[in-house]
Amino acid sequence: MKRKIVSALVCAAMVATMVVGCGSSSTTTAPAEDATEAPAEEEAEAPAEDAEEAPAESDASNASGDVITIGFAQVGHESDWRTASTKSCQDVFSAENGYDLQFVDCDNDSAVQLEAVRGFIEQDVDYIIIDPIVSTGWDTVLTECEDAGIPVIVIDRTIDDSDKYAAWVGSNFKTEGLAAGEWLKAYAAAKGITEINALVIEGSTGASATIGRTEGFKEIADREGWTILDSQSGDFTQDGGQEVMESYCKSYEGKFNVVICQNDNEAFGAMDAMTAAGVSYGVNGDVILVSFDACTAGLEFVMSGDITADFECNPLAAPFVEEVIKTLASGGTPDKEVYMVEHWYVNEDVVPSIEVNGETQEMTVVTQEIVDAQY
Ligand code: AHR
Repeated sequence: MKRKIVSALVCAAMVATMVVGCGSSSTTTAPAEDATEAPAEEEAEAPAEDAEEAPAESDASNASGDVITIGFAQVGHESDWRTASTKSCQDVFSAENGYDLQFVDCDNDSAVQLEAVRGFIEQDVDYIIIDPIVSTGWDTVLTECEDAGIPVIVIDRTIDDSDKYAAWVGSNFKTEGLAAGEWLKAYAAAKGITEINALVIEGSTGASATIGRTEGFKEIADREGWTILDSQSGDFTQDGGQEVMESYCKSYEGKFNVVICQNDNEAFGAMDAMTAAGVSYGVNGDVILVSFDACTAGLEFVMSGDITADFECNPLAAPFVEEVIKTLASGGTPDKEVYMVEHWYVNEDVVPSIEVNGETQEMTVVTQEIVDAQY
């Protein structure tokens, strides 16, 4: 079955049927298939409403009526996306809602993140949420969580070397990269651009978001015979994006017509660097600028035409994590993988839709209403 989370209205149904196979990884559908399904028609028309349609909060007390303690080992604070992800968890897992949230900002340091998880075990929290900075090196500490009887819920990025967690809620990053590539192919054809010379600014090394977006875009680039002139990490930060782009502008002056930034903050930095170097970008410029995340500021730049296309990564996972916790608390088995609904955004209606992994998804032209409702 190919499903994504669609709305709170179907949330109850989701517990039984949603997204992917219920309960064990043996019944799950491959991620690449799940995340390519187009959202329901009404969502495509009003994409910004998704977050409001998240599952309703409810009494969070555990069986004995106590406050539920949750340890959350967050990646850091590198981007607008991350800020929204942190806020989503703090809003849902608030004292008012019956939770005691122990939050650790790991500042993009994997050693700190492992230490944070071990600290949560020491505290004997009820649940642990991990947004893994890197996708490997997890089996030992997850075994420790398992031995301590503390369920782990993974959000956003994936853990690829262990399945000792109750559920994962996040995005299919490879599909995002494939979508960027398929859109670029169609856009270039519509604009009569016959040669693609791309520069990629990757996210943080070892993060599944970086790995998936890089693989997805490269797959299309290889298929279409495009040239990827260079691909370096900007660490998902504005400063990182600016620094890499400054160097690209010197090394590849006059040689590139596409820049792929793996998140919005890198794109903001890259825009500053290109402006300083006298390179024009966006819908009226010489360089097609593609980004990921589609945060509010990113969408403003899509609307102004500076970013040509922006592929959403939805950070509002917490309501769905709460559903997982409720399922676990009531003795049930949650779905092992839960995919967020995401939209692809553009400035102009040149490519109305794209097909990724055999499924068609609309491109959404950004309006002020969409910007105002975005995270
Ligand atoms: O893991 C999600 C990525 O991490 C987002 O694209 C980026 O903005 C964040 O830092």
